[in-house]
Amino acid sequence: MRSYSLIAPAKINLYLEIISDRPDGYHELAMVLQSIDLADRIDLRPLSTDKISVRCTHPQVPQDETNLAFRAAQLMAAQFPQTFARYGGVEITIHKHIPVAAGLAGGSTDAAAVLVGLNLMWSLGLTQSELQELAARLGSDVPFCITGGCAIATGRGDQLSPLPSLDRLYVVLGKYSSLTVSTAWAYQTYRQQFSSSYATESQNLVSRATNVHSGPMVKAIVQADGQQIGQQLHNDLEKVVLPAYPLVLQLRETINSTGVLGTMMSGSGPTVFAMCESYTQAQQAKEAVKAALPDPDLELWLAKFSASGIQVASSSLEKGE
Ligand code: C5P
Repeated sequence: MRSYSLIAPAKINLYLEIISDRPDGYHELAMVLQSIDLADRIDLRPLSTDKISVRCTHPQVPQDETNLAFRAAQLMAAQFPQTFARYGGVEITIHKHIPVAAGLAGGSTDAAAVLVGLNLMWSLGLTQSELQELAARLGSDVPFCITGGCAIATGRGDQLSPLPSLDRLYVVLGKYSSLTVSTAWAYQTYRQQFSSSYATESQNLVSRATNVHSGPMVKAIVQADGQQIGQQLHNDLEKVVLPAYPLVLQLRETINSTGVLGTMMSGSGPTVFAMCESYTQAQQAKEAVKAALPDPDLELWLAKFSASGIQVASSSLEKGE
């Protein structure tokens, strides 16, 4: 049996439109998602017992069944009981670099890495689409995290259409470490305030969801037009998160004033990102924000757009095999 070390990239939302309620209690969305090279590392080590365990030194990451990476291993064990009985359990070590509860799919990408890693460790031979089907049971962003790159996501966020990759662009990300936003709270508050604008006719719902395919954001991506992508950034959840978190609004305005291509909150926040056309522009924007907001609670990162989802960094044969 082999151990695996996997790279699990974060995502940002270049576009997030809330279309309507769904019968399953979720929202029907039209999104454009993009992977970035800010990533966690996930180590998977086979255990001789039938235990699943999670280790992570980050104080905000649970090491029990509430961790989505743990639930991913549980799902694989329940799905393939004979393989699990033959090979035994797994120790999952999460090296956390992506901020937690930040709108960057940090938990979802760790879970995606466990699915990809166990598929290899247990020689299951599952295809990407079979892995994505399992991933959708864990969370709306998990299927995207498997393949990564750039994609349109509709439905709950789990119906994916790949777009050309934009890996020459950079991004500056900012987050106050002490601020986290619950995704469920953000969507629920949006529903309370804006459900009167939800699509109700099924025809209207379908046309709004498909509009994203021919809309200006997708056009700009196909043309690899960084300026236009910057101008078309959109996130409906800003309407509820920014008024509730004035610091996030101030951070967004500060980053945006540094001459970047565009600025937006990612997912349900509170991370704010700015798109930049070069490493130098991103470095200058990061320094300008640091100088304008000298708060030790504010963390800033510089990352690059990435064409990759979950990647195997290394693999090794366990001792005694
Ligand atoms: O699927 P995930 O666990 O990421 O969703 C977290 C929460 O966000 C859900 O419980 C739901 O309240 C909200 N959500 C939603 N519609 C979506 C995705 C998420 O209402 N399409």
